[in-house]
Amino acid sequence: MGCLLKDRVAIISGGGGDIGGGIARRFALEGAAIAVCDISQDKADKVAADIQQKGGRAIGIAVDVSKPEQCEAAAARAVEAFGKITTLVNASATVSPDGNVEKIQLADWQRALDVNFTGMFLMCKYTMGHIRAAGGGAVVNIASSHGHFGLPGRSAYCSTKAAVMHFTRVLAIDYGPDNIRANTISPGPIDTERSLRRYGTRENSNKVRGVGQVLGRTGTVEEVAAAAAFLASDEASFITGTDLLVDGGQTSFKGSSLERYPS
Ligand SMILES: NC(=O)c1ccc[n+]([C@@H]2O[C@H](COP(=O)([O-])OP(=O)(O)OC[C@H]3O[C@@H](n4cnc5c(N)ncnc54)[C@H](O)[C@@H]3O)[C@@H](O)[C@H]2O)c1
Repeated sequence: MGCLLKDRVAIISGGGGDIGGGIARRFALEGAAIAVCDISQDKADKVAADIQQKGGRAIGIAVDVSKPEQCEAAAARAVEAFGKITTLVNASATVSPDGNVEKIQLADWQRALDVNFTGMFLMCKYTMGHIRAAGGGAVVNIASSHGHFGLPGRSAYCSTKAAVMHFTRVLAIDYGPDNIRANTISPGPIDTERSLRRYGTRENSNKVRGVGQVLGRTGTVEEVAAAAAFLASDEASFITGTDLLVDGGQTSFKGSSLERYPS
C-alpha cells in the first residue's frame, strides 16, 4: 500500500479481533512490524500468519489485558522480536453486561471495566517506557461513538468508552514531552463478525444501525484502520489528546430522520 509506518513496530491489543486485526493488516501494509496481542492465541496467530503470508513481519502473542504480568511480558516479547516498540493500539474489548444497574451483576461490571478500561491502562503502563526508549511514537486507543452518547442498558460499555477518551487526553499531556502522541478513535456502527452475530445479516445491520445515519450506511473495518494508520503516522504529527470520530456522522446527527428540505 504505502510506507506511512515504515520502520515502526506496533503492539496491538485485541489484534485478533475484527477492528484490531484490520488495523494490524493495514499497519503491516504501511511497513510496520506487528505484535498481534489477543486473549485468544489462535486469533492472534491467524492475523500474524495472514500478515506474514503477504510478506509482512508479525508475531502472535496471547495476552489477557486485565493481567499486569501478561501485559508486561507481551511488551518485552515484542521488543525481543523486533528490537523496539514505537506504536501502541488498544483495541481489545469484552462483551459488556446489558441491563439497568439493578440487573447488572457486579462481577460482569468489573470484568467490563477490567478489560475495556484498566486493560488499556496496563498496556500503556508497560509499553510507554519502550516507546520513549525508541525516541517517541504514538498511541491509538479505540473508544466508541457510545462514549459520546448513551445507549439504554449499556452503562458499562458506554462509561468505559467515555473513560478511555479522558484517560487518553491525560496520557497525551503526560507523554507529550517524550515525543509520544496519544489519541482515540471513536468508531460508530462498523460491520464486524460481532455485529453480524447481533444483527444477522449485513443488510439487516445496515438497516437497523445505518438508517438515519448521515451517510446512510454502516462503516467498514478498513475505514477504521485507515484512520488508525493516519493517527499513528507522521501525517498526524501535530495531533495529540484528541478523538477522531469514524462514525459516518452518527454523533453529529441528533434527529430521527434525514428528510431533506428542498433548497
Ligand atoms: N464493531 C463496532 O461497531 C465498534 C464500534 C465502536 C467501537 N468498537 C470498539 O472497537 C474495538 C474492537 O471491536 P471489534 O468490533 O473488532 O470486536 P472483536 O470482538 O472482534 O475484537 C475484540 C478482541 O478483543 C479480544 N479480547 C477480549 N478480551 C480480551 C482480553 N481480556 N485481553 C485481550 N484481548 C481480549 C477478543 O478476543 C477479540 O479478538 C473494541 O474496543 C470495541 O469496543 C467497535
